[in-house]
Amino acid sequence: MRVILHDLDRQYDGLLAGKCDRLLAADGNYAPCRGCFGCWQRMDGHCVIDDDQNGILDDYRASDLVIWSFPLYCYSMPSHIKAVLDRTIPLIKMKMVERQDGSVQHEALADFSKMHTLVICGCGFPDWDGNFDALRIMCKNCFGDPQMICVPEAPLLNVPEAAPVADMLLAKFEKAGEEYGVSMTLSKQTVRSLETPMIPKEVYLRSVNGQ
Ligand SMILES: Cc1cc2nc3c(=O)[nH]c(=O)nc-3n(C[C@H](O)[C@H](O)[C@H](O)COP(=O)(O)O)c2cc1C
Repeated sequence: MRVILHDLDRQYDGLLAGKCDRLLAADGNYAPCRGCFGCWQRMDGHCVIDDDQNGILDDYRASDLVIWSFPLYCYSMPSHIKAVLDRTIPLIKMKMVERQDGSVQHEALADFSKMHTLVICGCGFPDWDGNFDALRIMCKNCFGDPQMICVPEAPLLNVPEAAPVADMLLAKFEKAGEEYGVSMTLSKQTVRSLETPMIPKEVYLRSVNGQ
């Protein structure tokens, strides 16, 4: 099963629904994790808070591909997406295991070894080293080694005057989607082309600053 978990406006539901088997909207209506660890006592893969998150957990568990799509907020993920991520801890156990590199993780409740994770994140700054670092580390630790696409200058995608460059990027995304559909991975070259700024940093900064 292919799942898209996103925080886009509901107007995009129709478009996205055709691209996956389950569309999960992190719309801010999911309660934050209480930190009660009730899930680790019950170990049934569900949260003690009885809301739609338990449906998300069932879908998540049954997925072979989960696509997380959200904008960069304060160098990380928006709180409504994070609330959903935090509440995936019913899918792991309290038991901790040390990996060969010395890092430590919780043992999974189910076998997630065949699950593919793709993270697509746009940001408002022009490209600069470090903007996505915290998110990259967080996603690596949470999802294993997910495929990530980090897009600078994302607001240009909504600016009519930027349509010529934005449409070029969107066309690259369409092609990348086909590549991913075939091989469940993207070449370094494809990722680089998706992460390449649409316009030069100086031009972007000048136009944002109205100069
Ligand atoms: C609360 C907040 C925090 C943000 N933090 C960052 C940030 O740390 N780095 C960055 O480049 N952009 C940041 N942005 C800009 C968003 O990433 C940008 O507006 C978004 O990618 C545009 O996509 P959208 O049109 O889908 O919202 C932030 C925006 C908001 C509202």
